[in-house]
Amino acid sequence: MNEHLLMLGRFVRSPRTVGAVAPSSRALAAEMVRGLDLSGRTTVVELGPGTGVVTRAIAATLGPEAHALAIDVEPAFVASIAARYPRIEAVCASAADLSSLLRARGTFPADHIISGLPFASLPGEVTTSILDAIGASLRPGGTFTTFQYLNGYPTPLAGTFRQAMTARMGSGPARRVVWRNIPPAFVLRWRHQ
Ligand SMILES: C[S@@+](CC[C@H](N)C(=O)[O-])C[C@H]1O[C@@H](n2cnc3c(N)ncnc32)[C@H](O)[C@@H]1O
Repeated sequence: MNEHLLMLGRFVRSPRTVGAVAPSSRALAAEMVRGLDLSGRTTVVELGPGTGVVTRAIAATLGPEAHALAIDVEPAFVASIAARYPRIEAVCASAADLSSLLRARGTFPADHIISGLPFASLPGEVTTSILDAIGASLRPGGTFTTFQYLNGYPTPLAGTFRQAMTARMGSGPARRVVWRNIPPAFVLRWRHQ
């Protein structure tokens, strides 16, 4: 309940940045990390962790040698994640700064990038700079995972986003549906060619 109140409160203050009134479901979070190998010396990045429902799923499968970075612009979310998930490095920054954040830690390029960013409501130029940063920060063979709600999936904006991501990744995404979320969502995963 605390997580729901925190998300709702931040949404009221910054609706376009937070982009959702409630956290994703555990079912959606589980699907976001399903199939990712986070053992070994893996670097996994979460963009826009919010209240941390996907962070929890990442932490549950993170191997002892893996490095996990969670990046959010909202200080209250970052503080909450830092307090609850000591194995995850929580950073208050923009996702557009991804490359320099990874280089500063010696973990560039990343193996997996997982995003809960509200691309549908972010300004277009912010989305473009974040997509550029993702494309530049993922190793060949690495994955980028995000979700789009079923009701927004057919819209031109959502289609333009998928095309822009595909252009940077070199091939289209795999798609899986998660019904147990409000609203239901497609989880999309690209593999960087
Ligand atoms: C819809 S919430 C997603 C929360 C969580 N991943 C989930 O699925 O419940 C979007 C998050 O993206 C963050 N965010 C928005 N713009 C950002 C940016 N440029 N860089 C990093 N985080 C950003 C917001 O602060 C918010 O925590």
